[in-house]
Amino acid sequence: MTIVLSMGGSLVNPGAPDEAYVTSIVKVLRRMPYRFGIVVGGGKAARIIADRIRAKGGSEFEADEAAIEQTRENAAFVAKIIGNEANRKIPVDFSEAREMAKKNRFLVMGGTIPGITTDSDAVLLAECLKAARVLNLSNIDGVYSDNPIRNENAKKYSKMGYEQMIDLAGKNDMRTAGTHFVFDFLACKLIARSKIEAHFVHGKNLLDVRKAVDGKPHGGTVVK
Ligand code: UTP
Repeated sequence: MTIVLSMGGSLVNPGAPDEAYVTSIVKVLRRMPYRFGIVVGGGKAARIIADRIRAKGGSEFEADEAAIEQTRENAAFVAKIIGNEANRKIPVDFSEAREMAKKNRFLVMGGTIPGITTDSDAVLLAECLKAARVLNLSNIDGVYSDNPIRNENAKKYSKMGYEQMIDLAGKNDMRTAGTHFVFDFLACKLIARSKIEAHFVHGKNLLDVRKAVDGKPHGGTVVK
């Protein structure tokens, strides 16, 4: 059985690569009886690099290309910590990823093409590897009715359906720049089309991460 994790860049590389965090989560996953697909995000470094490209007159495509490079560097960092059970080279597309997943219990990758995010890459990888479920690990402990930082009345859902999740992501997509929903709109549409169970937990709550990997109840949100 394969489980796919979308590991937020803000966890892996909040400013500098966080070796202690990655080591601690790898220790948890290693003890579990599954194969894993791990898609690593870009974090702050990717945003800085993309802004630098834009400031020099680069296109959004070029900014994304540079950000993808950073996601791959973060992925290489995670793969190195996993060691022998992970791929050495970071795949650049899903057919490469699928081949590498056959040979490695942990398949680690970053972004793929400009215009999307690693949330969508994670769901596409889950489709590609026929994963049992996908986990979104970020610095938010679930899906809220509104931005919990700006609205103290925002309520966390323990479970919700695909349509509700798509509505919420769509509503948040149209908000002002800087607002950032926990899962991007395309990723929401993709989990819905394949009926992939998606779990949203705080990446540093390793107890919840373990429960979500097992598909057991946890303190975050389940979308199914
Ligand atoms: P993410 O936005 O997925 O990384 O990718 P993250 O750090 O986990 O996200 P946050 O912290 O929650 O925002 C970083 C950037 O890399 C580019 C996009 O520009 C994206 O914003 N990217 C990533 C792509 O263009 N294509 C991909 O397949 C993945």
